[in-house]
Formats: sequence, C-alpha cells, structure tokens
Amino acid sequence: MVGIITQHNIYAHYLHNTLLHNLTNKFIYMINIHGIILAAGKGTRMNSDMPKVLHILSDKTLLEHVLIKAKNTCKHVHVVYGYMGDQVKKSVSDNSINWVHQSEQLGTGHAVSQVTPHIEDDSISLIMYGDIPLIKESTLNNLIDQACISGLSLLSIDLKDPKGYGRIIRTDGQIKAIVEQKDANEKQLNINEVNTGFIAIKSKLLKKYLKEISNRNSQSELYLTDIIALAVDDGRIVESVITIDRVEVAGVNDKVQLAELERELQKKQSLGFMNQGLTLKDPSRFDCRGALIFGKDCTIDVNVVVNGDVKLGENVSISPNCIINNSIIGSNVVVLPNSVIEGSVIGDGASIGPFARIRPQTKIGKNAKVGNFVEIKKSSIGNNSKASHLSYIGDTIIGENVNIGAGVITCNYDGSKKHNTEIKDGAFIGSNSELIAPVVIGKNATIGAGSTITNDAPEDALTHSRTKQSTLKKWRRPSKK
Ligand code: UD1
Ligand code: CA
Repeated sequence: MVGIITQHNIYAHYLHNTLLHNLTNKFIYMINIHGIILAAGKGTRMNSDMPKVLHILSDKTLLEHVLIKAKNTCKHVHVVYGYMGDQVKKSVSDNSINWVHQSEQLGTGHAVSQVTPHIEDDSISLIMYGDIPLIKESTLNNLIDQACISGLSLLSIDLKDPKGYGRIIRTDGQIKAIVEQKDANEKQLNINEVNTGFIAIKSKLLKKYLKEISNRNSQSELYLTDIIALAVDDGRIVESVITIDRVEVAGVNDKVQLAELERELQKKQSLGFMNQGLTLKDPSRFDCRGALIFGKDCTIDVNVVVNGDVKLGENVSISPNCIINNSIIGSNVVVLPNSVIEGSVIGDGASIGPFARIRPQTKIGKNAKVGNFVEIKKSSIGNNSKASHLSYIGDTIIGENVNIGAGVITCNYDGSKKHNTEIKDGAFIGSNSELIAPVVIGKNATIGAGSTITNDAPEDALTHSRTKQSTLKKWRRPSKK
C-alpha cells in the first residue's frame, strides 16, 4: 500500500515538475512560435498545370488547410514558395503571412534555411508541409510542447508499408537519426517507424544544425532530416511524438491520394454529423464542402452535395441528387430530388422541386411551393405562393397566396438591362403567360392564360391579351399531291 502511495507521489511530483517546466518553457516561447510551411514543390505526379498545394480538398486548397492549423498554433507563419509562386501567393488573401521564395529546390533543409534569417533565436520553429493538409492542431501543440522541453521533437508514425519515407533510426529506444529511403541500407529499410516531416525545434538549434548539413547523399539534396543526427552528436535527446492517425500525416502526391484524403475527410465529417443527430441515408454518398448546421430530425438522402455555409432548420428533408450552396433552409422544408439551391433563404414549410433551380438572392416564403422545372433568380416569393411547373422567375417580387401557372415567364431582360416584375398578393397568373418587365400585376388580379402582358394589370380584374378565338369553317389544310 505504502509503495503504491509513494509511486503515486513520485509520479505526481514528476508530473508537477514537468508541467511546470513545460508551462514556463512554453510561456517563454509561446509568444514566439514560427510556423514554416514548405510549399515550393511542383508536385510532378499531380500531372497538372497547377502547383500541387493549390489543389482543392473539400472546400479549400491544400495550402489553406495547413495555413489554418499553422495560424492557430503559431504566432508567425512563413510559407516557402517556388514553383508558380505568383499563383500560390495570389491564392491566399491573408497578408500576415511571410512569403519566402526558394528559387531552386535544393532540398527540405535548403527550403527551411531560406526562412531562418526571418526568425529570432529565442523562438520555436515548427516545420510543416504544404501538402499534408489534415494534421491536427493538438498534435502540433504536442510537438511544440516537446520541443520546449527537449529542444527538438519530431512526429513519427509506424507504417506497415514505410516505403518512400525517411526511417527513424533508434538505438536502445533513443532516436539517433533519420535515414531517407534512397540512402537506407537493407536493415534500415525494414524499419516501420517513419518521419512524417513535422518537426518542432528551438530556432537557435535549427540555425546551428542547418549550417552543418551537406548534400552528400544519394539525391545531392540538403536534407532537413540530417539535423536529427547532428542534434544527437551535439548531446541532445531527440523526442518523438508518435501518432497512430494515418490520415493526419497523409501527404498528397497524386490524384489518387487526393481522392483518398477527400473520402477520409468526408467520412470523418459525416460521422460527426450523425453523432449530432443528422440522418444520412448513406454517409459515403454525402459530401459537405463547407460548414453545415442543422436542427433536430433532418434527413439527407444519397448524392447530396452541400457547399459553403448551409443551415437547415428542424425536420428538413433533402432528397437524392440535390446541391445546396450557401443557403438557409427553414424548418419542415422538403427539398425534392434533383434540385439546386444557391445563395437563398427558404421559409418554413416550403416545398422545393423535384428539378427546381433556386439561384442566388432568392427568398422563398413560408409554405410556398416551387415545383418541377422552375428557375427562380434574385426574387422573393411570398408565403403560401406557388409556382408549380415550368417557369422562369427573375428579378421579381411575388406577394402572398399568388398562383403562378405552368409555363409563366418573367421577361426581365431587354438585351441590355434587367427589369423588375411585381406580382401582388392573391394574383393568379394564367399558364403560359409572359410578363414583360418592368410590369406590376395588381392585388388579386387574374391574368388570362397565354397572355403577353406589357402594361401593368389592375387589381381585382381579369387582364388578358389573347386575340379572340375564331374558326374558319371552309379552310382546308393543303394536301400533298
Ligand atoms: C520528406 C522527408 C522524409 C519524410 C517525408 C514525409 C526530407 C529530406 N525527407 O521526404 O524523411 O518521411 O518528407 O512526407 O526532408 N520542398 C520545398 N523545397 C525543396 C524541397 C522540398 O519546399 O527544396 C517541399 C516540397 O514541396 C514538399 C516538402 O517540402 O511539400 C517535402 O519534400 P519532398 O521532396 O516531397 O520530401 P520527401 O522526399 O517526401
Ligand atoms: Ca513528399
């Protein structure tokens, strides 16, 4: 019993001391953590005209994914850029980033050397790769914490198939060096623990060791990884943070890996949504490329894509094959199959589709109905109004309880300018009518089917523009001889 208590006390003492040490260290360095993102590579295997880090994963470029993590863990962020650098720079709007050009790609060590002149000695440098997008912030923080204590830490992982990676060489459990695949001997090639590329190091040490690295290796490159052996020679203990999450350290080198990572990201996201109560008919056939917020009892069927910021109220049902971008959907809304909703607000209880297209700046009122093959652009549809079939409604304000017949078109464009249409409460627009904007249809007005309306239609009256129906009894259709 006594033994256990003593052990516990020793442990508590140890924990207290390390924490304290750690906290003080982190406090000293926290104000000065420099994130270095290596992004100078071309990414030959992407077979693309675009630099690798600009390829899109979910809703952001690979580089943006890394930048978000870097900004959340580091005070300063430096990006080493090279191949098609202007494009890379232009893709990021954040002007707090220090862009450092690497004109020739002489290796990861050379890349980091381009940044060190911008970094104070009494800081921590955290090295990241622009093509490893799903690294976790908590892991980066662990690395930084470790480096605060020991001076240098790296992130490693055990891989069944370590091919291509730098191997972690240990003696008696202690890290001694990293040996690159191309420089490794047979025995080293059998090591499963590999370097993920993420390294945190006191900047003074980084500068010191970088000066000592050489390109005497199979690729004639300046390897960043050589600093490990140099630190060991210098009497330092190199600590590792070991992750078991393959996805957070997965790099993108080709389109197959890009697609695999996209799936992993979507899978994780979908799991999160389902745990919060969203019903996904098939999580592997739902893609959210942005931020989705939802109320209780929402259901999303297969092949639905959500882009940007989308908010669903409660009890919303989205049928198969719908695309929803940057929209707010009220409660009890039904979106029927094959509908596209962009930049719009849909009121409670509305029914959209099937085959409806709601374009940006549209507001659909409560319990309104937009049916098949109806396109609505920059318009508002009042509560309980209906456009059930085959319509184009653009730049239009529609009141409440309006009925838009099948085939009604608002002619909003005269070839140079867009004009507005207004349809007041209770109006009834007969099928296949054209409303030539600008035009106002009065309250409770009725438009006869097949009318072309060029002037305002008064309220409570029937307006039509059809020619009178006539019959020519003696007329005969020409016949072929
Ligand atoms: C590197 C590591 C290896 C590790 C692997 C993890 C070295 C020497 N090796 O190998 O131990 O297992 O990552 O993925 O560091 N870059 C530049 N400028 C350069 C060279 C590279 O910016 O001059 C960038 C690349 O664009 C890329 C990153 O650095 O984003 C890694 O370079 P890469 O050549 O892919 O290194 P690996 O051979 O994969
Ligand atoms: Ca690589």
